[in-house]
Amino acid sequence: MEQKFVKTHFVEMNLSNIIDQLGEDVTKTILSSFSCPLNKDIENFIKYKAIEFSKRTTAKTHLVFWQTDDEKYSEFVGYYTITSKVITVDRNALSNSEAKKLKNQGVYDEAKQEYTVSAPLIAQLGKNFSNGNDTLISGSDLLYLAVNKIRKIQREIGGRFMYLECEDNEKLLSFYTRYNFKIFGKRTLDRDETDINGDYLVQLFAMF
Ligand SMILES: CC(C)(COP(=O)(O)OP(=O)(O)OC[C@H]1O[C@@H](n2cnc3c(N)ncnc32)[C@H](O)[C@@H]1OP(=O)(O)O)[C@@H](O)C(=O)NCCC(=O)NCCS
Repeated sequence: MEQKFVKTHFVEMNLSNIIDQLGEDVTKTILSSFSCPLNKDIENFIKYKAIEFSKRTTAKTHLVFWQTDDEKYSEFVGYYTITSKVITVDRNALSNSEAKKLKNQGVYDEAKQEYTVSAPLIAQLGKNFSNGNDTLISGSDLLYLAVNKIRKIQREIGGRFMYLECEDNEKLLSFYTRYNFKIFGKRTLDRDETDINGDYLVQLFAMF
């Protein structure tokens, strides 16, 4: 019997647009199907905070759907959240060429030997482990979509530096460093960051 391959692609949707189109109740139902046993912070953010953060424009969440090209099947496979922050980077964490690039983007404090720069933060990123949906997307696909979104914004407004923060976990650090993110520091957890393992987050940046 002849077997046909089904072509698929990913569709990204800004959570604010989903709320506008479907209303908050339907949106909450979609979000409630998200599960991430490896990282409760990722699961609780999308279930209980993402809508409020999107409405207050604190941080914008983008849902990623796997879809067949004929649009017959669609699955919620992951999400990422981006916001804009001011961040300080120690000069010692940078190569000479990275320091040169950053000099054009931010302010250098000669005495402290550190750069302060306004930059996009990938605040959340995770696959949906519900119903095996995580097998429909790879971490590299998801990170690529997040980085590409930031690159598109930076092409419009300038900037080339982006960063993220993750638990001090070998698997996570090797995932991000594989895709050109570089460790530059640590941040102590805020008191309300109770879903995170450990008492600090490792900070990583990328410059394109
Ligand atoms: C991080 C992530 C996007 C990477 O996706 P991926 O490259 O397709 O890789 P996998 O999901 O297969 O995970 C790779 C390994 O890392 C482990 N891992 C992933 N997230 C982890 C976490 N938060 N804590 C501990 N281990 C984790 C997996 O168990 C797996 O281990 P194994 O190799 O022993 O099977 C995905 O694993 C994920 O969504 N994790 C949960 C959410 C998360 O922690 N996001 C990062 C926030 S900073």
